[in-house]
Amino acid sequence: MKRDFIAIDDWTTEEIQALFKLALDLKEKQKQGIEHHLLKGKTLAMIFQKPSARTRISFETGMYQLGGHAIYLAPTDIGLGKRESAADIAHVLSRYNDGVMARLFGHDLILDLAKHASVPVVNGLTDYNHPCQVLGDLLTVIEHRGSLDDLTFTYVGDGNNMVHSFLNAAQRLPMHLKLACPEGYDPDPAVMKTAKDAGISTIELFRSAEEAVQNADVIYTDVWASMGQEKEAAKRKKVFKSFQVNEALVSLAKPDVKVMHCLPAHRGDEITDGVMDGPHSIVFDEAENRLHIQKAILVTVMGN
Ligand code: CP
Ligand code: NVA
Repeated sequence: MKRDFIAIDDWTTEEIQALFKLALDLKEKQKQGIEHHLLKGKTLAMIFQKPSARTRISFETGMYQLGGHAIYLAPTDIGLGKRESAADIAHVLSRYNDGVMARLFGHDLILDLAKHASVPVVNGLTDYNHPCQVLGDLLTVIEHRGSLDDLTFTYVGDGNNMVHSFLNAAQRLPMHLKLACPEGYDPDPAVMKTAKDAGISTIELFRSAEEAVQNADVIYTDVWASMGQEKEAAKRKKVFKSFQVNEALVSLAKPDVKVMHCLPAHRGDEITDGVMDGPHSIVFDEAENRLHIQKAILVTVMGN
């Protein structure tokens, strides 16, 4: 049976912990220059409907470091769901490649790809979620805090794909997850409910960023207008004004609070230069860990 990586809650707590462990092991090997060609001779097709820096570069680099090869397919190449159906492309890629990674608009399309591919499909972001990012983020928290125990994690901003993945993670890993979103920009209530019903994390929604960051170990933010929402950017800039992660907001959290952002950041909007470049920021450790967690994911789903 092939295994996909589409959403964090598709994986058990034990499996997620194993990914963290493998990621740290592969990271150490990479730093020490120890060869780890666990995917020797294997290829990964990477389908992009949206732009990317980190996702493309980290997957491509990761495959190379694992002894394999990645193939970048630009938004103009495949025309997934338009030039050709997801099912047909899934069948074709399964004849060439050992795995598929896709960054798509509609989540249904990645589910369709996974359904029809006989090789593993890894989600590199959809409008609904961004699971590789969130596992890399939690790995970064583990490195900085030693563990996820008693973690108070505050997300400030749009209730978007990042938040859905945090909610999915909170179904498997206990945490106090506080979300500060302006009215009308909440995450999907069904995803909220499923996460709450799992009963392993405390999940709260706030309308005030100031209130939500009290006692936070981590403050996390993301762009106010995601890819595909560019037309709403001006309106959102007004709505989200009081949800900026700035020095004053950070000073309300724990003194050693860590600030995170999945990047790309719109400096001066959701986060100030002072915070991005300041002592609390771990955004570049976080960006680095995309590489290590994804190598662990690739080895787990594509390895022998
Ligand atoms: N964080 C992230 O996924 O970055 P890219 O959009 O640049 O891939
Ligand atoms: N919410 C953002 C995340 C980018 C990594 C987007 O979807 O554009």
